[in-house]
Amino acid sequence: MGLEINAVYLSYVVHVLAVAGAVMVLVWNIHFRGGLAWESSNKNLIFNVHPVLMLIGLVIMGGEAIVSYKALPFKKAEKKLIHLILHAIALILGIIGIYMAFKNHNESGLANLYSLHSWIGIGVIVLYGVQWIYGFLVFFYPGGTGDLRKESLPWHVLFGMFVYILAVANSALGFLEKLTFLESSGIEKYGSEAFLVNFTAIIAVLYGTFVLLTALSRAPAEDHHSYSAI
Ligand code: HEM
Ligand code: HEM
Repeated sequence: MGLEINAVYLSYVVHVLAVAGAVMVLVWNIHFRGGLAWESSNKNLIFNVHPVLMLIGLVIMGGEAIVSYKALPFKKAEKKLIHLILHAIALILGIIGIYMAFKNHNESGLANLYSLHSWIGIGVIVLYGVQWIYGFLVFFYPGGTGDLRKESLPWHVLFGMFVYILAVANSALGFLEKLTFLESSGIEKYGSEAFLVNFTAIIAVLYGTFVLLTALSRAPAEDHHSYSAI
């Protein structure tokens, strides 16, 4: 596809932003929010797993899965396997992350699914699952006919980018919502934690932008006809 930039260079920016985002969300939840827990009498620790898994799992692993086609120096079949495995990990971590948000709400006696963030979140995870299953059946096993693959690929790329943009945007909504809760219960509006949360969201948005730029740019030479080769 389109942009005359070497995708490999853009993918380096993607990896650097991935590390930055992962470190920032961990520092926030472990250092500022008290840590992560599967079971605890402090239900906030259960919630903290949610942003960590949604950002590192769905957004960062999902982004690395998308750029893997353009960034890795392997054969087409190997990259296909890496793409589908990384997306499977992203999907599973995303489902566990959402489960932890529900677990926190249920164990704290709070209502479920009252916010725009949670509604879009359900949409994102369902669409991501549908995209993965369709991709697996048509491009991997049992595999569609040549015609079906050819017709499906542009839709797969378009729909994949759409779901991914929605996931990144919904993370930004999640950071906004959580920080607003924290600020109304007393943390400083211009304090270091508030800056960390807002900058983590900005890194997530930049990361998503570079993932899309990489997907839209020129693959390394041997891969120029990758779209027609499916
Ligand atoms: C694409 C990534 C994300 C998805 C798909 C997602 C999805 C969800 C869902 C489905 C819920 C509802 C849980 C319930 O009703 O019991 C929820 C809750 C919540 N999430 Fe996320 N989330 C994502 C990322 C984030 C991030 C990065 C944060 C940052 C802190 C966050 C903060 C929250 C908060 C504060 C709640 C509780 C309040 C509410 O239900 O809106 N989320 N999320
Ligand atoms: C939710 C999961 C998935 C999402 C969001 C997704 C998204 C994408 C995107 C955005 C691209 C374009 C990448 C680029 O040009 O750099 C792509 C390409 C592709 N995906 Fe997926 N994908 C998913 C799952 C799968 C699965 C399970 C398969 C099964 C093998 C698959 C097979 C392919 C193939 C064959 C291409 C074409 C690569 C090329 O010819 O350049 N995808 N996908």
